[in-house]
Amino acid sequence: MLDVPASLLERLATSEFAGSPNHLSEDHHRWPVIDEVAHATHYPADVFAADEETDEPPSIALPGSPVDRPLPAQQIIRQRRSAMDMDGRTSVSRETFYRMMARVSPRRGFPFGVLPWPPFVALAIFVHRADDLPPDLYLLARGARPERSLRDELKSDFLWRRPAECPDGLPLWCLVEGECGRAARTISCHQSIASEGAFSLGMIAEFESTLRHRHAWFYPRLFWETGLIGQVLYLEAEAAGVRGTGIGCFFDDAMHDLLGIHDRSWQSLYHFTVGGPTDDLRLQTLPPYEHLPLDE
Ligand SMILES: Cc1cc2nc3c(=O)[nH]c(=O)nc-3n(C[C@H](O)[C@H](O)[C@H](O)COP(=O)(O)O)c2cc1C
Repeated sequence: MLDVPASLLERLATSEFAGSPNHLSEDHHRWPVIDEVAHATHYPADVFAADEETDEPPSIALPGSPVDRPLPAQQIIRQRRSAMDMDGRTSVSRETFYRMMARVSPRRGFPFGVLPWPPFVALAIFVHRADDLPPDLYLLARGARPERSLRDELKSDFLWRRPAECPDGLPLWCLVEGECGRAARTISCHQSIASEGAFSLGMIAEFESTLRHRHAWFYPRLFWETGLIGQVLYLEAEAAGVRGTGIGCFFDDAMHDLLGIHDRSWQSLYHFTVGGPTDDLRLQTLPPYEHLPLDE
């Protein structure tokens, strides 16, 4: 049962009702294009998805202790929520940022080993607030092959400079120097969660060549890859004492313009933000999964 505060019940008892509520539509709005895409991308069972030997991902030399999580996984998973707003203040350390980038990099085993194909998704990252890391536009290539394609396809005046103290094996590059909060916010449908956190990013997928080679049924699988990166980011954010939010509302054309993509070689599919959350005090917050017993 909802635990409604007594003061709120008192206020409601004496409040005047104002306005007139809308009726919810009884009509069904058809979106035929969704059925068309579902049909066109149907997986033909005679094709084996795991058709490729993937290159061994490079090992990434992270500094510091391998035990970096004082919190148990169960707690991190249960406490994960989306930030509804970012505080515009909280930063992450450079080491934390590099560690999160390493965790979303491909590697054998769990979790990215569950996808039986080489990486097709790279991250274009707007860093806003990271200690000892300037607020620039960065790129995590997530593999040598995608990096070669990105170096060909993205703007020719990008810097491709290694950030300071970047761990060996982490294909992270500074592309453009300078504060990029305004661009991040505009691209994410003007949502301030994309500019007021520590960093936000667009997940761009190697698109046309992948679909030509593997055919349309591979299209949803590109979203599987972005979704897995998002899940890892959600949990890594909680483990680092900050919070994440998936961003499905973004202007892909504006993102492509910023990167210099003018064809279908790369396509932005999902965005994400990480930072210090602010609570909306008008909403009641219950402990996560409070109706379930916690297994010891
Ligand atoms: C694919 C995806 C896209 C999302 N897009 C947005 C978005 O554009 N803006 C936003 O504020 N939240 C966005 N969210 C966050 C959802 O609003 C949030 O996940 C949902 O309310 C459930 O809350 P929870 O993540 O705390 O369980 C998105 C989440 C996902 C998974």
